[in-house]
Amino acid sequence: MRRQRDGIAALYGRRSECAILDDLVAGARAGRSQVLVVRGDAGIGKTALLDYMEANAAGCRVARVAGVEAEMELPYAGLHQLCGPFADRLDRLPDPRRIAFGTAFGLTAGQAPDRFLVGLAVLDLLADRAEQQPLVCLVDDAQWLDRVSAQTVAFVARRLLAERIVLVVAIRNPSDELDFAGLPELTISGLTEADAGRLLDSLPGRI
Ligand SMILES: Nc1ncnc2c1ncn2[C@@H]1O[C@H](COP(=O)(O)OP(=O)(O)OP(=O)(O)O)[C@@H](O)[C@H]1O
Ligand SMILES: [Mg+2]
Repeated sequence: MRRQRDGIAALYGRRSECAILDDLVAGARAGRSQVLVVRGDAGIGKTALLDYMEANAAGCRVARVAGVEAEMELPYAGLHQLCGPFADRLDRLPDPRRIAFGTAFGLTAGQAPDRFLVGLAVLDLLADRAEQQPLVCLVDDAQWLDRVSAQTVAFVARRLLAERIVLVVAIRNPSDELDFAGLPELTISGLTEADAGRLLDSLPGRI
């Protein structure tokens, strides 16, 4: 049987990957911001690793979103998921950023906002939240984020410094997106034969 830990199914193998994720969370608890882009084929275990991270982020606030294929053509749909829970702190932002953010999300009437200002607003909102508690942001299925959201998440990722924020972005291969290029990456490959065997044995029915 697959082991259960605190109601969450434990992973087979993946020790080194889990250690990397643990370090990221420990870094956030210690006041460092870090970013990791997790890449791998369909079904390789990217979401399972995000699940692991979420289950092992005690003491941190977790903000988790996933790209939705049906929303790829809707600008800001992904960011709306990510920042929705933090929008109550909007009034703490400088006016230009608050207005740009509000316009992007239909809270304020106006022309299409300056994306740079929206990016800064998102960074402000996340940093503001992380002042209260380390923040773990998990973005799954980033290959399905709408373009503006992907660009903004990458923009934020490149500017994280000492805000106590960990940002992990999972992307399915093959992917031709370039928005996250240049950020630290972890490529997930197959399980060892022994771990794959244990995983198969744990599944109901025969394969
Ligand atoms: N190391 C592991 N131990 C136990 N179960 C695993 C492991 N890796 C993956 N799984 C299980 O295999 C299935 C596929 O994994 P997962 O959904 O994480 O893949 P993925 O990389 O996110 O795929 P996709 O690109 O389709 O989103 C899930 O049921 C997951 O729980
Ligand atoms: Mg997945």
